[in-house]
Amino acid sequence: MEQSKQNSPSTPVEMEATLAELQALLEEKDQLLMASEKMAVLGQITAGIAHEINTPLGALKSNYDLFGRCIVKLKELSAGSDDSNNLKIQKLLEKIDQLNAVNIKASERIVQIVNSVRRYARQDDADPTDNDLIEIMNNTLAIVHHELKNRINLHLEFNSVPTVKGFPTQLSQVFLNILVNASHAIEDKGDIYVKTYTSAQNAVVEIRDTGKGMSPEKKDRIFEAGYTTKSSGVGMGLGLALVNKIINSHNGTIEVESKEDVGTTFRIFLPAHQ
Ligand SMILES: Nc1ncnc2c1ncn2[C@@H]1O[C@H](COP(=O)(O)OP(=O)(O)O)[C@@H](O)[C@H]1O
Ligand SMILES: [Mg+2]
Repeated sequence: MEQSKQNSPSTPVEMEATLAELQALLEEKDQLLMASEKMAVLGQITAGIAHEINTPLGALKSNYDLFGRCIVKLKELSAGSDDSNNLKIQKLLEKIDQLNAVNIKASERIVQIVNSVRRYARQDDADPTDNDLIEIMNNTLAIVHHELKNRINLHLEFNSVPTVKGFPTQLSQVFLNILVNASHAIEDKGDIYVKTYTSAQNAVVEIRDTGKGMSPEKKDRIFEAGYTTKSSGVGMGLGLALVNKIINSHNGTIEVESKEDVGTTFRIFLPAHQ
């Protein structure tokens, strides 16, 4: 059995098996190609939307600022006399002032989100660049934030790591896929631990969740293109296949540890940029 795998196929059955293997490989490539094309289109659309949102957002922000200054003026004007109407007006102005402060905070938050989406959707340069994984992780976390908050406690431990040569959008996609999987694995409430550290000339990113974990049989299959345990619409089973492909092309490696009902740890090793 072992030997026939290494030699070229000779019997019709072996030929059949080799053909089937080739077929499977081709299908896997097709699926990955489709997924990355879809991602690229999605990236362009998202970048367009983020760009469109930016202009009205700028208008809102500057109006809120103007609003704030009007309120200050109105307060000054009504501060002169103190009949009962004026007191009411002062109260209302106070209320408007508070609401405006909330609006300013909210629009600042939207600006933050739009900026991180724009960074994520930006097409990578043709040549690999020098990357700070902590910065990439922070930008990625800003994108998944809405998916995690209220339900999942995020614990960050960023120890300094060497820079890594590669494509930031792809690396962000790796973190995004693993973080989203971690969030899916946590059914109700739970924790995600993100840690960076240096080990033997590698920048290491560790993402651990307290989700439902996997049996060893499941764990063996997670990098297969098309393997998913999620209902259609939630997962296509391409996320980790893509993760694997991206890490390979960055000369890195991935480790997975998992225990059912305890959780899962993904560890990504990327060589330091010399
Ligand atoms: N953190 C995790 N905890 C438990 N199972 C996981 C985790 N990450 C991945 N998996 C398993 O691996 C499968 C494949 O993941 P992935 O390739 O991202 O595809 P998808 O998320 O579309 O299902 C998932 O369906 C799930 O069964
Ligand atoms: Mg996934």
